[in-house]
Amino acid sequence: MDGSAESLRGYLEYLRDLGIYDVYRTSDPSDDPALAAWWKSVATPVTASAPATPQRPANSGSPSPQRPAAPVQRPAPTPTPQRPPMPSSNRAPDIVITPPTAAAAPHAYDFDQAPAPTGQLAPPAMPLVSFNNLAPLPTERVAPANKLAALQSVRDTIGDCTRCPLAYAGRHNIVFADGDPNAELMFVGEGPGADEDASGTPFVGKAGQLLNNMINAMGLKREHVYIANVVKCRPPQNRTPEPKEANTCSPFLLQQVDIVQPKVIVALGATAATYLLGVKQSLANLRGQWHDVRGAKCAVTYHPAFLLRDPRQKGEAWKDLQRVMVELGLKPPARS
Ligand code: URA
Repeated sequence: MDGSAESLRGYLEYLRDLGIYDVYRTSDPSDDPALAAWWKSVATPVTASAPATPQRPANSGSPSPQRPAAPVQRPAPTPTPQRPPMPSSNRAPDIVITPPTAAAAPHAYDFDQAPAPTGQLAPPAMPLVSFNNLAPLPTERVAPANKLAALQSVRDTIGDCTRCPLAYAGRHNIVFADGDPNAELMFVGEGPGADEDASGTPFVGKAGQLLNNMINAMGLKREHVYIANVVKCRPPQNRTPEPKEANTCSPFLLQQVDIVQPKVIVALGATAATYLLGVKQSLANLRGQWHDVRGAKCAVTYHPAFLLRDPRQKGEAWKDLQRVMVELGLKPPARS
C-alpha cells in the first residue's frame, strides 16, 4: 500500500470511529474543508480520459482504459438478489447483500409505528472525563531542573501529529506552549488562532495582547507564567474544537500540567473549563470558586477573545484574577 492509500485508509477508519460511515456519499467535499484539504493532498489527479464521475461504460461506446467492456446486455432479472458475475478477470467481485429471511427477523417490525427519520445518524456520545480522572496523579514531581527536558520530550512525542482531523485542516504549526516550565501560574486557552498557527506560539494575536495585559496587571510578565491550549492545532475558521479533537490532544496537556505542576491554573473560557474539569456548565456556574485540577487550584474566567467582544466583562475577569493573585501572594504593580 503506498503512502496516500495508507493515509486514506487511516482517515476512513478515523471517520468510522467518529461515527461517520457514509463519507462516500459526500456530494461535495468542499462541504467539509478539512476533508477537502486532506482529499486534495492524497487524491490522484483524474486523467483526461477518465470520466469525472464513475460511470458504467456505455453499451455502444469504447471500453474505458481501466475496465474491460461490460457485456452488452445484462441477463434478464432473476428472482434472486444476486447479480450475475461480470466476465472480466480484473473486476472486483460484486458484494452480495442477502436480505434477512423471516427466520432471521423474529419480530415483525411495525413500520406504521416507526419514528420519523431524523436524516442523520446520532454520533456516539464522547465521554467527558476530567483531567483528574484521565490518569492517576503523578507520584513524583519532576525536579525543576528537568522540567524543560521533560516538556521537550512531550513535544517530541507529539511529533508531526496526525492523530486527529485538525492535522489536515490547514495547520501550519503545532502550538505547544510558551513560558516558564517552573511557573506557579498556568493559563489554558482553547486552541490556536491564525496568528498562533503562523508563529507556533500560543496567544500572540489580539487575544494574546489582552492576555499579556492581564498578566502584567497581576504584577507578572508573560515569561513568568506557562501558557498552553486544549488543542495544539488551529481549528478551521477558529471553530470550537470537536470533542474528538480535544480528547485526542488532552493527554498532552495533562502531561504538561503534571510536569509544570503550577500552583494555580486559570482556565480561559468554556472550552478550557469543560475539558480540564470534565463538566459542561456555564461560566457563571464555574467562576468564583476553586476547582481542583491535578493538585493545582483552578480558577475559571472569561476568554480574552470574549473580553475583546464584550469589554464590559473585563471587570468580572479582573475579579477572578484578583482571587488568583491572593492565592499566589501577588500584588498589582504600583500605578505610575
Ligand atoms: N485563543 C486561544 O484559545 N489560544 C490561543 O493560543 C490563541 C487564541
